[in-house]
Amino acid sequence: MCGIVGYIGPRNCVPIILEGLKRLEYRGYDSAGIAIVNNGRITIEKRAGKVIDLVNKIGSNNGKFAATLGMGHTRWATHGEPNDVNAHPHFDLDKEISIIHNGIIENYQAIKTKLLREGHTFVSATDTEVLAHLIGEMYKKTGSLSAAVRYALAEIEGTYGLVVLSTHEPDKIVAARKGSPLILGIGDGENFVASDASAIIEHTRQVVYLEDGEVAEITTSGFRTMTIDDVATQKVIQEVTFELSQIERGGYDHFMLKEIHEQPETIRNAMRGRLMVEEGDVKLGGLSHVMDKLVNARRIIITACGTSWHAGLVGEYMLEQIAKIPTEVEYASEFRYRNPIVGEGDVLFLISQSGETADTLAALREAKGKGATVLGIVNVVGSSIARESDGGVYVHAGPEIGVASTKAFTSQLTVLALITLMLARAKGMSKADGQVLARELDTLPSKVARILEDTTSVRALAREFKNTKNFLYLGRGSNFPVALEGALKLKEISYIHAEGYPAAEMKHGPIALIDENMPVVVVVPRDGIYDKVVSNIQEVRARRGRIVAVANEDDNDIDSMAEFVIRVPRTYGFFGPILNIIPLQLLSYYIAVERGTNVDQPRNLAKSVTVE
Ligand code: G6P
Repeated sequence: MCGIVGYIGPRNCVPIILEGLKRLEYRGYDSAGIAIVNNGRITIEKRAGKVIDLVNKIGSNNGKFAATLGMGHTRWATHGEPNDVNAHPHFDLDKEISIIHNGIIENYQAIKTKLLREGHTFVSATDTEVLAHLIGEMYKKTGSLSAAVRYALAEIEGTYGLVVLSTHEPDKIVAARKGSPLILGIGDGENFVASDASAIIEHTRQVVYLEDGEVAEITTSGFRTMTIDDVATQKVIQEVTFELSQIERGGYDHFMLKEIHEQPETIRNAMRGRLMVEEGDVKLGGLSHVMDKLVNARRIIITACGTSWHAGLVGEYMLEQIAKIPTEVEYASEFRYRNPIVGEGDVLFLISQSGETADTLAALREAKGKGATVLGIVNVVGSSIARESDGGVYVHAGPEIGVASTKAFTSQLTVLALITLMLARAKGMSKADGQVLARELDTLPSKVARILEDTTSVRALAREFKNTKNFLYLGRGSNFPVALEGALKLKEISYIHAEGYPAAEMKHGPIALIDENMPVVVVVPRDGIYDKVVSNIQEVRARRGRIVAVANEDDNDIDSMAEFVIRVPRTYGFFGPILNIIPLQLLSYYIAVERGTNVDQPRNLAKSVTVE
């Protein structure tokens, strides 16, 4: 979603901010802007389109655009179409205060009406400009920038990650957060604010995570934080551990391709120090204090959005079949609004790559408020879901930049497999059975590497189907979520319509779509329901649909049934999705490349969805 970066210190802030904005582009955006404070004025440059368009616009400004205090923003439109005027930063009425904002001001219309009555005029259609004007009014009353921000925030409903600059106080940045992530970067004689550590990691690794409801005043030499009611808060400076190289492309054409190829390593990282192969068991430090609750859980509920929800669906199969714990999976956006009956005795797993997804965070709070134990399965260290959970497991996939999630998904599945094995053992699974599963888990990184070694057949498929309008993906059991995820990947980056379906459900509707032009991707490993899926394949063939099978290496029967076969190694049934999704990630990637779409930053999508 929107990206934020701000700087105060001795250096020219403009290149620092523009570089930071480029690093934030992956979050999803449609316009970008920058504000600097210099010689008693705020100057704003902003533009619809890419950060590079903004860079070019500023570049033509003869190098006069420079300052030691400034802030930049990449916008993902919520109120008002993505054009130059609606792009952030926005001014207050007197152009003495400027703000950038991530989130939604829900009661902006009421505030706008009041301000209009008082003589304000607005140039944009955004909720953010209304907030800027409100802060301007509050400044007139309080004569203090941070007090003006606090007073204004007390009047609004909604969410924000907010950065404010003013000519009145040109020695500081004021920032505030509620529902949208914001961190302070602590440098040496300079300080930063950003929505994401990747924007500032080149300059400092020391960060402070703001909590919801906190306001920060940042100067060149330090910072102080307080609540909206002006009660001082204490912060701990933490260290960001990822490397700059992890957020760069490293020779690959796209981040998505790099991240697909990182999976042998990231799956290994998810298991490192946790999987005890010889003991046939698993140790997860972040869950040890809630083991009793987990083992005795009445049921487990998994909530998540998007790809993470698909991981949850696979987790349901694992947890019910292997650990024998009743498990439900629900979209976080639905869970939070249906007044769910949860309470003590229920354990909720929140799965989220970013750890910031607004609906997932809201589901966490809803369940926590009702007494359930809430546990995170999260990638981004220090993110909101990680911090607000009662415990959890980091998936350790490293920064995922491509908007379409790949390595985070397989790491989530790996962590779910670890949790399952740990709970199964705690509930009485024998050591010998545990060893069988643990040994198999241990082989997965090398099996994934084998799939990635040769991608020629997938590339040929991509050429064959690049102009196709519709795709159907089928799978059964724990491979039904793989079908959903394969279809989602294709939709996200190639804009081809694709649907995932449980193979047997096809005949209740989607079969009407099948003709000689319709590719049907079927995930058909040699497991207990192989023959059933083969029957579904025959139903497609009888209607001249074109079968693309994802099948095991040693399946000699499939060639006679499928027009195309992509081979994957065999594994234990419930671990299959970790392997079977890999060729589907590659297929969507290569089709998108064939079609020339923007693979890493697909239209309309955002990496981290911090609005509901
Ligand atoms: C967005 C992203 C998806 C992601 C979903 C959930 O829609 O584009 O790739 O699966 O959010 O995100 P999370 O960070 O909670 O896993």
